[in-house]
Amino acid sequence: MGLKLVAAKVCVICVCLGVGWNALLSVSPIDPLPVDLPPPPERVGVLSYNKKLHSALKLAFGQVSGPEDLAVDSEGRIYTACADGWVKRISFASNDSYSSLQVEKWAYVGGRPLGIAFGLHGELLVCEASRGLLNVTQEKVELLSEEADGLPYRLADGVDVGKDGVVYFTDASYKYGLDIHALDIIEGRPRGRLLKYDPATNTTSVLLKELYFANGVALSPKQDFLVYCETSMFRCRKFWLEGPNRGNTESFIDRLPGFPDNIRYDGQGIFWIALPTSWSLLGRTMVRYPYLRHVIVAMAAMAPGVIDATLVKESSVVAVNENGETVALFSYPGITSITAGLRIGEFLYYGGIDLEYIGRLDLEDKI
Ligand SMILES: *[C@@H]1O[C@H](CO)[C@@H](O)[C@H](O)[C@H]1NC(C)=O
Ligand SMILES: *[C@@H]1O[C@H](CO)[C@@H](O)[C@H](O)[C@H]1NC(C)=O
Ligand SMILES: *[C@@H]1O[C@H](CO)[C@@H](O)[C@H](O)[C@H]1NC(C)=O
Repeated sequence: MGLKLVAAKVCVICVCLGVGWNALLSVSPIDPLPVDLPPPPERVGVLSYNKKLHSALKLAFGQVSGPEDLAVDSEGRIYTACADGWVKRISFASNDSYSSLQVEKWAYVGGRPLGIAFGLHGELLVCEASRGLLNVTQEKVELLSEEADGLPYRLADGVDVGKDGVVYFTDASYKYGLDIHALDIIEGRPRGRLLKYDPATNTTSVLLKELYFANGVALSPKQDFLVYCETSMFRCRKFWLEGPNRGNTESFIDRLPGFPDNIRYDGQGIFWIALPTSWSLLGRTMVRYPYLRHVIVAMAAMAPGVIDATLVKESSVVAVNENGETVALFSYPGITSITAGLRIGEFLYYGGIDLEYIGRLDLEDKI
């Protein structure tokens, strides 16, 4: 739906129904804050528009529903958290024969598992959106953390594990759950947190609060800092774990060409950040004017498709080096759902919250 058409519909609905400010507020549950977003980056050089992911293979088609995040074990098998509550495991007999690929139901978590990362003992640490941080093995599912400082998580989202076994994870919002997470992003208030779970003491501490939709998290190769993504601000930031800046944050990458979701370090100098979508012109305009946000949210209550008009149909995975410089961008125009990019050897795998497969691109000499 084009911007003009949406604008026309907004006017028609407002005028015809005589929707006043108070009526609008009763339909729109948000409490919007004007957000001063930096301008989007120019799409030149490494950020040029492309369709590099169109040539990726689609693996396990129909056997994985909404593979939101990906993790790999020491034997090269890929794990993914699906919309049906299962963690599925994909094994390859060889990299050249897809007929030999096997998809197994590895462990049932229930709910909606999102971020996943391996712990030190073969267990998978899983962020289940509504419950919190889970320790998952084939034998059991154990709840490790469901709240911090007395505030329960509403949207446990991204996770990574340090070499010392400490678990870093995020809660994107303490107000809105996964089904209405778009409202958190539209509202523009910082309700996310970066959290640390220490298995030695079975305690969770808040490292940072008031984050803008805290999403993916990844430790640096030296484990001296971690990078966390703030989806609604189009940026990922560094949080120092060691050294003179310990406990401080600083910029890692700003003005990403889309909303950052999961982030993964590949052991070869590159952080891979998935960008499911971005604001369309309508979306950006809406963010600037709280009144327009109320109108869009009220309309979306009647026609959920309205939110789609605020988004751009282009998903990407961006490769960023340890200095926060973009080195490559792999895009898939036409979809809005790539939420994870994981490099294993010479392959870039991707998954997405609404996808029915896992993509695999042979990087060859592309990076
Ligand atoms: C998860 O559970 C397994 C098996 O009980 C245990 O070995 C491991 O230490 C646990 N991991 C965490 C992070 O609590
Ligand atoms: C860890 O703490 C949680 C509550 O914060 C509790 O439910 C759980 O039983 C504890 N686990 C262990 C292994 O002590
Ligand atoms: C497939 O390729 C990856 C990385 O290129 C390698 O680590 C893995 O062992 C290969 N798997 C098989 C079954 O050959």
